[in-house]
Parts: sequence; structure tokens; C-alpha cells
Amino acid sequence: MILYGARGQAKVMYDLILSNNQLLEYLVDDNPPADFPHHLPIYLPSRELLLDKKVIIAIGDNRIREMIYDKTKEWCSFEIMQHYSAYVSRFTEFGDGSVIMPKVCINAEVSIGMHCIINTASVIEHECVIGDFVHISPSASLAGNITVKKGAHIGLGANVIQGITIGENAVIGAGAVVLSDVPDHAVVVGNPGRIIRFGTL
Ligand SMILES: CC(C)(COP(=O)(O)OP(=O)(O)OC[C@H]1O[C@@H](n2cnc3c(N)ncnc32)[C@H](O)[C@@H]1OP(=O)(O)O)[C@@H](O)C(=O)NCCC(=O)NCCS
Repeated sequence: MILYGARGQAKVMYDLILSNNQLLEYLVDDNPPADFPHHLPIYLPSRELLLDKKVIIAIGDNRIREMIYDKTKEWCSFEIMQHYSAYVSRFTEFGDGSVIMPKVCINAEVSIGMHCIINTASVIEHECVIGDFVHISPSASLAGNITVKKGAHIGLGANVIQGITIGENAVIGAGAVVLSDVPDHAVVVGNPGRIIRFGTL
């Protein structure tokens, strides 16, 4: 297994890899930090280092994850990784490269796109549809039948009621309570959630 990225998200992924008794060979990073736990080697990315490897893009930023995917998709394959403590319904569908962190709960008939981060202790209820390159932050909860479109970020501890659609690249702030549909690129905060601006993180 190879990690693309060698900072915070990669540290969490390394821990997950060890918990699952898997082996991390090395990391690649466009701007390598000085060190990584256990002094694992960090290289500048190249086709040779990624060719035919199983890779996880360990970067929290949805857009950067997508850029790296576009750059590397012809060279390597992408793993789906799940921490052993997560509950994931057998009726869940996953896209390649998505990761399920500790204590997550995913209930029946959820579909998750590729290269999503379903972060620690988040809850995704039945029949939600999660697009590609989405990040569901720690302790966020989605009720049933929610659609989260490509590139959206659901912040720490946010709650979204059933049947809502969260638009492409939308950002839901930490602790927000979302009671109505959110348009593409909107940034929403508060309880009840309100749009404060349109744009990126
Ligand atoms: C929503 C968010 C993206 C807004 O960031 P921003 O655009 O830089 O916004 P600012 O910090 O300039 O704040 C703008 C206003 O919104 C308020 N605000 C920002 N985030 C808020 C939040 N989560 N809840 C309530 N109000 C919030 C600010 O207090 C400020 O209010 P004011 O204009 O009355 O002073 C950010 O605050 C946030 O919550 N990010 C999520 C972080 C997260 O979940 N990380 C998880 C990593 S795993």
C-alpha cells in the first residue's frame, strides 16, 4: 500500500493501515515534510513509484484529492479502506479510493462515490447517495435519503435532516443543522443552517 500525501490525513490513514494489519511501503508527497512516524520513506511522486501500486490519496481537501486522482488514475489502482470498528451495512456500495474511519455507522442501501472520506464516528443513514470526492467530517450525521453531491464538505458534528440535497462543492460548517436544500458552492453555518457566502473553503 502507498499513501499519496504525508501530513495529517496520512497519519490517520497509516494508523488505520496498521490497525488492519496491512503494510505501508512508502509515501509520496509533492512537498514532502521532514519526517513521518516510524521514519517511513517519503518520496516526490513519480509514475515509477506509483505504477501498478495500490494507493490511497490521503489528503483531506476534496479538490486536491480530485486533482491528484486525475493526475495518477492511469498509473495505479485505488484501495477502499475501512476501519474494523466501523459498522457498514452489507447493502452499501463504494467507489474506489474511499475510506471509512473508526466508529462510522453506515446503514442500509447507501451509495458512496469514489475518493470520499467518511470520517471518525460519522453517521450515514439509509439510502443516502454520496457523490465523488466528498468529505463527511467527524461526528457529522446524515439522516435518511440525503444526496450529497460531488466535492461537498460536511463539517464537524453537522446534522442534516432527511431528504435534503447538498449541492456540489457546498460546505456545511461545523455544528450546522441543515433543514433545507443547499445550492452548489454554498457555505452554510448555524442552526438553522443559513448561507453566509458562495465559494470554496
Ligand atoms: C463554515 C466555515 C467553512 C466558514 O469559514 P469562513 O468562510 O472562513 O468563515 P469565517 O471564519 O470568515 O466566518 C464568517 C462568519 O460565519 C461565522 N461562522 C463560521 N463558521 C461557523 C460555524 N461553523 N458555525 C457558526 N458560525 C460560523 C463566523 O463567526 C463569522 O460570523 P460573523 O460574520 O458574524 O463574524 C468554517 O468556519 C467551518 O465551520 N469549517 C468546517 C471545519 C471542519 O469541520 N473541519 C473538519 C476537518 S476533518
